[in-house]
Amino acid sequence: MKTAVVVGALGVIGRYIVDKLAALPDWQVIGLSRRKGEDRDRVRYVSVDLVRPFEPDFSGVTHVFYAAFQASVGKASGYAANIAPNRDMLINSVSAIDKTSPALERVILVTGTKYYGTHLGPFRTPARESDPRHEGANFYFDQIDWLTTFQRGKRWTWSELRPQTLCGFAPGTAMSIVPVIAVYAAMMKELGRPFAWPGTPGSGRAIYQVTDSAHFANAALWAATDPRCANQAYNITNGDYFRWLDLWPRLAQAFDMPTAAPAPLSLTEFMADKAPLWDAMVAKYGLKPYRFEDIAAWPFGDYVFNTTWDVMTSVTKSRLDGFHDVVDSEDMFVRLLKQFRKERIVP
Ligand SMILES: NC(=O)c1ccc[n+]([C@@H]2O[C@H](COP(=O)([O-])OP(=O)(O)OC[C@H]3O[C@@H](n4cnc5c(N)ncnc54)[C@H](OP(=O)(O)O)[C@@H]3O)[C@@H](O)[C@H]2O)c1
Repeated sequence: MKTAVVVGALGVIGRYIVDKLAALPDWQVIGLSRRKGEDRDRVRYVSVDLVRPFEPDFSGVTHVFYAAFQASVGKASGYAANIAPNRDMLINSVSAIDKTSPALERVILVTGTKYYGTHLGPFRTPARESDPRHEGANFYFDQIDWLTTFQRGKRWTWSELRPQTLCGFAPGTAMSIVPVIAVYAAMMKELGRPFAWPGTPGSGRAIYQVTDSAHFANAALWAATDPRCANQAYNITNGDYFRWLDLWPRLAQAFDMPTAAPAPLSLTEFMADKAPLWDAMVAKYGLKPYRFEDIAAWPFGDYVFNTTWDVMTSVTKSRLDGFHDVVDSEDMFVRLLKQFRKERIVP
């Protein structure tokens, strides 16, 4: 039996890792976050604020999946500069588990493609793991430097995974694109307005990539258990690329809406006064009662939809080292959007 601690267990990455491991017969899971999830068979949640020192009351942990994140207020592209809490949460959780669990085998650190400066401007594409870091501050660099230094001389090893724009559902997440699309579509339909591409035409034509959260959980399991992944970093995306303007008509179809010409719009500004409309829609359509501020993060939508340069990383290294799963991103968006409607998250 392996024991995993998933740090950030309720996030758009963490909750999919918990679900993945919980479905396997030889794993038990401890999930850490400030909120407490619902305990179930072989899954236990512990409520803890990791910004403060942490003294765990568990031992025998074999794997840590670190997917916690604290966003700063303001533009989504500024998140990476939010160093102190994100560095401290990693140090507090991993050093405490290292101290109490001599059985520790591997620590999986989730970072992202902002490592290459995807949020700052054009970068060398497709980016490879060996490419240099971007200039300037990024909490990933502090996390990686601390973890790799701390690990030296220990029995356990680390793997670092770099996904791009996770696609899944986790209310309260600052970076989650599928609910942004779903709620935007539902609102426009309700207002009798077209489902137009809200970014600039230039950003709609740039190359983009995403990572399905369930696919990422498969990659995390591979990285945690394959000997080849010891002390290695990997880009993890669906393995394909697309342009938003090509994809948009299929997304419109998933909401039974006609395709419209692009109409640049600041989602953050447009949605600023829409909470009452959302609450009315929740009542009218019998939707799950998520608060408007928890369900979609509009600054993140603006950030993703206004990236005018190609965002493209190479997943060749992960393929060569044994992770061969791929996801068709267009099909994934349609599947997730239909799931959101079916589960009454949006009408
Ligand atoms: N989302 C994306 O599209 C994306 C893309 C590329 C890379 N990444 C990277 O992936 C990593 C995880 O991000 P995410 O988007 O999955 O985050 P997320 O969905 O916002 O989840 C963050 C998790 O951390 C927990 N958390 C936050 N502050 C905490 C604290 N003080 N103590 C304990 N737990 C805390 C949250 O739960 P509570 O709020 O209940 O504490 C939640 O479970 C980050 O490094 C991020 O940069 C994300």
